[in-house]
Amino acid sequence: MSTSPPFDAIWASLPMPALLIDGKDCILAANPAAETFLNASTRSLFNQKLDDKLRVDVPLCDSLIRARANQADVNINDVTVSTYDRVSPHCLIQIAPVQDMPDQLLLLISPRVMAERIGRARNATSAAKSAIGMAEMLAHEIKNPLAGISGAAQLLSMNLSAEDREMTDLIVEETRRIVKLLEQVEQFGNLRPPEARAVNIHDALDRARRSAQMGYASHMMIIEDYDPSLPATWADPDQLMQVFLNLIKNATEAARDNRGTIRLRTFYDLSLRIRRKDGSQARLPLQIEIIDDGPGIPPDIAGDIFEPFVSGRENGTGLGLALVSKIITDHGGLIGVESVPGRTVFRISLPVAPKDQPAER
Ligand SMILES: Nc1ncnc2c1ncn2[C@@H]1O[C@H](COP(=O)(O)OP(=O)(O)O)[C@@H](O)[C@H]1O
Ligand SMILES: [Mg+2]
Repeated sequence: MSTSPPFDAIWASLPMPALLIDGKDCILAANPAAETFLNASTRSLFNQKLDDKLRVDVPLCDSLIRARANQADVNINDVTVSTYDRVSPHCLIQIAPVQDMPDQLLLLISPRVMAERIGRARNATSAAKSAIGMAEMLAHEIKNPLAGISGAAQLLSMNLSAEDREMTDLIVEETRRIVKLLEQVEQFGNLRPPEARAVNIHDALDRARRSAQMGYASHMMIIEDYDPSLPATWADPDQLMQVFLNLIKNATEAARDNRGTIRLRTFYDLSLRIRRKDGSQARLPLQIEIIDDGPGIPPDIAGDIFEPFVSGRENGTGLGLALVSKIITDHGGLIGVESVPGRTVFRISLPVAPKDQPAER
């Protein structure tokens, strides 16, 4: 009897597409389910760039880097995977480092039905969505009585001794904090579809930078590293500014000892192309990076920071990046993040405005 398990047979009978990739993200092996999924033979897939054979609507490379860096599994829930001839929404991608094979990764792709069977993890997203819906309703209901409470406390405080007034001040202060949180929840719910027009990205970045430097980021050094030849993007200028503000704010809040450097970088990268849900191709050549030199994203939440209510900060709402992600997705763009201590990069990729639409200032 053979002592070694029949790995080939197991590989061949895995019910989901499985790919083995090397350190350069090239395909080393594909099981039969992957051959069917990618509509290509193992032989034709061998040594091909993963990117060329399979596209995901979130930057896959970030997750590959993370899996290698941490030598730990990374799951990406509810993504759309596009291959040569099909678009599969609601997939679960599991990435696992291969033991004793540095840099090699195993990729398992579970299309919808299987993803649901595997279950648990996927539900996080929909659970989060209904949590948002519920929070919106609550926000609306709670704000009115809160205004009453705060007003009453202010009235009360008029006749109180200084010592007792500390109590009413606390009530007023804390209600203000809750109202602010509720407003963020409402802002999330009220987000209207983008009113897109041609927008000069540098104008939007400048507006955000100036606003941030007048307020919370006054102690931060903000460096502009722009490619001035960048053409206009097609976006809602206010929503775009909101995105930049949220990212600058996070970078500021992450900074150690109240100081740090934020680099705003723009550049052109023609190679980024995604396939939309309707099957059409779109280029996202405009790249914007918000880079900080803070401590990096806490590893335990790194995979979930774009989900609502996920926060690594005391007093955080976890809504900032959820809003950012929603806005960028509504614009047909992509957002991804790479983070190690000392360097966190949020990268946004956006489309170019139609040629006949010049940007207005
Ligand atoms: N630039 C950054 N550096 C380090 N951690 C970050 C950065 N941006 C975001 N994070 C982490 O992601 C979490 C979620 O961010 P966000 O959605 O804006 O919610 P909040 O800021 O309310 O916590 C933050 O709490 C923080 O832990
Ligand atoms: Mg935030």
